[in-house]
Amino acid sequence: MENFRFYSPTEFVFGKDTEQEVGTLLSSYGARKVMLHYGGGSIKKTGLYDRVKASIRDAGLEIVELGGVKPNPLDGLVYEGIELAKRENVDFILAVGGGSVIDSAKAIAAGVPYSGDFWDFFDRKAKVEDAIALATILTIPAAGSEGSPAMVITKEDEGLKRGSGSNLLRPKFSIINPELTYTLPMWQTAAGIVDMMSHIFERYLSKTEDVILTDRMMEATLVSVIEASYALLNNPEDYEARATICWAGTIAHNGQLGVGREEDWVTHALEHELSALYDMTHGAGLAVMFPAYMLYNLEEDVERFYRLAVNVFGVGDNHYQKKHVALEGIRRLKRFFNDIGMPTTLKAAGAKKEDIPLLVETLKKNKGESFGSFASLTLEDAKKIYELAWSE
Ligand code: NZQ
Ligand code: ZN
Repeated sequence: MENFRFYSPTEFVFGKDTEQEVGTLLSSYGARKVMLHYGGGSIKKTGLYDRVKASIRDAGLEIVELGGVKPNPLDGLVYEGIELAKRENVDFILAVGGGSVIDSAKAIAAGVPYSGDFWDFFDRKAKVEDAIALATILTIPAAGSEGSPAMVITKEDEGLKRGSGSNLLRPKFSIINPELTYTLPMWQTAAGIVDMMSHIFERYLSKTEDVILTDRMMEATLVSVIEASYALLNNPEDYEARATICWAGTIAHNGQLGVGREEDWVTHALEHELSALYDMTHGAGLAVMFPAYMLYNLEEDVERFYRLAVNVFGVGDNHYQKKHVALEGIRRLKRFFNDIGMPTTLKAAGAKKEDIPLLVETLKKNKGESFGSFASLTLEDAKKIYELAWSE
């Protein structure tokens, strides 16, 4: 295990009706004027919007609103949010939604005290050194942004989807009520499940040795997520299954499963090109790219894929045929993604084969000529992985 620092200051408030506490919580964290940031309207349909506003008002706080965040959030609304927050002297941002809303809120929080263009954080021209406080009410377990330091924004005119982050952007508190996720369409639930599993795979696929504790924590989390997913297919209002998936999404990405080990993140980079070009749902893109990435890099560490197959996908252990077992594990991963309604080929996800060179070209802008820690890859490898994902 390598040396590490793990910092997760977020207070997680988890369970039924917890959103009713938002006003009191904001007050206790010193908020006076709150920007309520949300997406395309699901929170209005479900009644969450009214409950949240009432709780904030009851706490005697002022509210400024900015809705309209799109999935794969765009820079345009971030600029608008920064202007609005400055004009109105907002001192706290409350993101009510999923990763897109939370990431947009983080970019605004970082952009307000910064004198330059907030995109500098994504161009690596500047580091976040100050931010206004933010908190979240999570409505979709997926991106893990409610507990992570990361934010991912798309620069619309250049078609660039990039990540950045800072510990200063970890939410002060995150409210997670699994019941709020009952209204999610199965497609969104499934995409979220793939995303959180992928956050684990990015950490699980590591060359760091002697990390057995986090290996096992990750395997247990993956098994729990898979079991809960099948329970949800039977009953989307299974509270315990929703609760398992909600908390799994948070721990998958708040850093605790990656401590002391090198993480990879190449598959996320390959996927971000798909969301940037096709506005593809992040989880759907990952359901396509992860099996292809794993197949392509199987020989990097057959033992690790063997572990995954046996401990997570229930493939019978067979020490004489480790590669065979490992391959069966990847097949079962694909089957699971299909079972929950996700595509596992680029073709099924609606991509175009002739776009592969374009995907590789933007990948070069974002990641350079070579990347990856589990496997050292070049742009040529990336092209081959996209090709493998086409109809494999
Ligand atoms: O916009 P509304 O109307 O609210 O609808 C949303 C949206 O259409 C809907 N939804 C959310 N909660 C709902 C609901 N519909 C009904 N009932 C509910 N309770 O779901 C749709 C998707 O929402 P979105 O926020 O886009 O989903 P997700 O949480 O998957 O976020 C995806 C974004 O997060 C980024 C992704 O790249 C993508 O841009 N990521 C952020 C990370 C981070 N900050 O740490 C890490 C991830 O790897 C990821 O890259
Ligand atoms: Zn992700």
